[in-house]
Amino acid sequence: MAIAADSPLARPEQIQGNILRPFGGKYQAFLVLSFGNDQAGARRWLAGIAGRVTGTAGVPPRAAPGKPRFAPGQTLLNVGLTASGLVVLHPETAGRLAAYEAFWSGPLGSRLDDAGRLTTTPAMLGDTGRSDPGNWVIGGVGPAVDAVLTIATGKDRDAFDQAVEREQAAAAAAGLKVLHTQHCEVHRRDRQRVEHFGYADGISQPSVRGFADDEPSPAGSPAIAAGEFIVGCEAERRPPSWKQRPVPPRWMRGGSFQVLRRLEQDAEGWWKQMEKLRGKGESAEDVAARVMGRRLDGTPLAKPDATRENRNDFTFDSDPDGDQTPRYAHIRKVNPRDNMVFRDRIHKMLRRGIPFGELFDRKKPDGQKRGIVFNSYLTSIEDQFEYVQRKWANNARFPSTTLAQYGRIPAEPPRVDGLDPVLSDNKAGAAARLGDDAHKVPDPAYGGFVTTTGAVYAFAPSLPALWQLAGDERLDG
Ligand code: HEM
Repeated sequence: MAIAADSPLARPEQIQGNILRPFGGKYQAFLVLSFGNDQAGARRWLAGIAGRVTGTAGVPPRAAPGKPRFAPGQTLLNVGLTASGLVVLHPETAGRLAAYEAFWSGPLGSRLDDAGRLTTTPAMLGDTGRSDPGNWVIGGVGPAVDAVLTIATGKDRDAFDQAVEREQAAAAAAGLKVLHTQHCEVHRRDRQRVEHFGYADGISQPSVRGFADDEPSPAGSPAIAAGEFIVGCEAERRPPSWKQRPVPPRWMRGGSFQVLRRLEQDAEGWWKQMEKLRGKGESAEDVAARVMGRRLDGTPLAKPDATRENRNDFTFDSDPDGDQTPRYAHIRKVNPRDNMVFRDRIHKMLRRGIPFGELFDRKKPDGQKRGIVFNSYLTSIEDQFEYVQRKWANNARFPSTTLAQYGRIPAEPPRVDGLDPVLSDNKAGAAARLGDDAHKVPDPAYGGFVTTTGAVYAFAPSLPALWQLAGDERLDG
């Protein structure tokens, strides 16, 4: 595919690493920073760090078996700036940034709901009760988050600790405050990444049309227009009725919005629930497979004979009733896999999440805090992350209502599919919002095992834009 010479995709080396090509690595840390309204300090810090930020080309490709992927001491760095951070650096950016509503108002902001009533982002996303921002450790009440740094290294723990200390010291030297340092670590089982509930993770990922990475995308990864992930590139076609996306100023081209969420997982509670929901002749693992839509080893229920190579190559087309993969299963809720019906191509994200805390061992529950830092890159927080969370995962009548509109299932009687068991609240917490539907939601289609304990909406500018933002010259708009 020919890429227009003026498309940011023509210069992928100027796009920050971890967006097009994942950092991976055994260890990652997220440094959450406040500029304390000190423009000079913030610019000094950014000028100091800009040369160390990793571009796409600096992310090491997959290594040959048995060979390390990272060079000794190699550290990868990505920097995201929030709306408040960008305005401290360059107040003249405010006018244009305000058009990016979710980004501008942030994870705690005031918003209008679909009916035009005043609400807040936490209320829209279900960050209430246990997930109330009052309890967050990242981005809650307190000083505004202005920047978030992603630091990644290979298996060398000392090199990782040194890299984290180096960045903490660089921030402090410029007068910035480190609000939180979140250490994360990849866990593996049978040579694949796993998260704390015990499932293989990091399987399904869109590929980016026009970005020819060294690593071919596995079968079943749809090639999505680069404009869904990189600002300034051509995006997927959107329904004409949808709100037009803002026209970005020049300095935003080649950048990507970043949604970061710290999600604590109650893995012990999860497995107690799986035991409780066991039907006759069923194991807890069978229940766990139904609520995820994949077995613990990653095999999809929709393709039980899949191999590791083709386990992402399937749809739910022949299973509208959810006999094979329940309609509430996490992977079906967040990716219904039928663009004709759900237009899922315009709701994709590049997911770069990573666990924190020691891997949960079902045989030795220990009460420790653990979870995932969900980290994703996209170009519309509203249409991608928030849409999936609100309109799909937390909507008890999704996907049935849409399937019925397209004649894939009868419209009457209306069905209640349930909530995403990973992302939604428990029955007590969800009842008021669901009204009558609360009684119709199947028991496995409630959650309550994941608590939001932090959120940041950031923007990861291109490498040249980082230098511009660190400088004194006025930016275009
Ligand atoms: C503690 C929180 C979470 C856990 C434990 C979790 C777990 C998983 C697992 C095990 C998979 C299947 C493996 C894979 O395809 O990579 C998956 C897929 C996925 N998750 Fe989550 N997830 C969490 C949060 C989220 C959030 C917050 C979102 C977005 C709103 C999300 C969106 C997705 C998407 C889009 C997929 C790919 C589905 C597909 O294409 O089949 N997840 N998740």
